[in-house]
Amino acid sequence: MKILITGANGMVAKATIDYCQSIGDEVVALTRQELDITDAEQVEATFLREKFEAVINCAAYTDVDGAETNHETCYRANAVAVENLALASRKIDAAFVTISTDYVFDGAKKDFYTQRDTPNPQGVYAQSKLEGEIRARNAYARSIIVRSGWIYGAGGTNFLSVIDKLLAEGKSIKSISDSYGTPTFAKDLASRLRELAELDLPAVYHATNAGSGTSYFGFAKKICEIKGFDQNLIQSVSVNDLKRPAPRPVSSKLACLFGEKFGLSPLRNWEKALEEYLK
Ligand SMILES: NC(=O)c1ccc[n+]([C@@H]2O[C@H](COP(=O)([O-])OP(=O)(O)OC[C@H]3O[C@@H](n4cnc5c(N)ncnc54)[C@H](OP(=O)(O)O)[C@@H]3O)[C@@H](O)[C@H]2O)c1
Repeated sequence: MKILITGANGMVAKATIDYCQSIGDEVVALTRQELDITDAEQVEATFLREKFEAVINCAAYTDVDGAETNHETCYRANAVAVENLALASRKIDAAFVTISTDYVFDGAKKDFYTQRDTPNPQGVYAQSKLEGEIRARNAYARSIIVRSGWIYGAGGTNFLSVIDKLLAEGKSIKSISDSYGTPTFAKDLASRLRELAELDLPAVYHATNAGSGTSYFGFAKKICEIKGFDQNLIQSVSVNDLKRPAPRPVSSKLACLFGEKFGLSPLRNWEKALEEYLK
């Protein structure tokens, strides 16, 4: 399959590039410098020239706190640009997969969020991502929206991706014990994105590793268990102790209502995936 992966320097993009190359796809991976998805003309010209069969949009403005003061930049990348990509995909009749987030939910529900739950995004980043979902589907009915959450992986700079390095250096870390999500290994998400591009059934999917989810504290504790690090290095804190600019859902565990009905196996349990990441 000739496939475009946008935002090629990002964590999920790198995992997706590796996965697609490993199964023999013709991968065109473009960084922001090579394809700025906010530039509608550049996007359309690239698509008409390259005639991709599928597009996986891994590019986004991902600075959740920064979005609170960079509203316009955030919306351009996460909403307007997603529409640009959807429209260009429609022009060349390509499958279009774009990633959204568990943050579209407000976090008031303790149980797993499914596609039956109505989004109620709280911060600017979350609102921009929901707007991206809506614009994608309105611009191109074939759009496939993949909500994921708590993603970590090689090359990632977010908290979950670097805890193990900090603990390995004997550094103590503060970890939130009263905020819950479903951890997702970028490598596993990558294979799901590619499967969905092939399946080509437009819908909103929830894609995370299986299991009952955990807190940031639980995630860090699991790393200590697997690697034999000192658990005393992890200091449990409350979400209210961290005064962060953007609101975040206190609980945003995701479950998919129909993945298995479409023949998709659940992604492996999050603890198993974490073991592989730590190897
Ligand atoms: N990480 C998580 O826990 C998480 C959770 C839920 C959903 N998601 C979603 O998953 C997707 C991938 O996230 P990630 O964690 O891989 O993010 P990431 O590592 O921050 O990568 C995002 C990439 O997008 C690029 N980008 C930003 N604006 C662009 C533009 N206008 N044109 C082209 N590229 C642009 C960035 O380029 P630069 O390097 O030049 O800035 C960066 O390489 C995003 O849609 C994100 O919203 C992530």
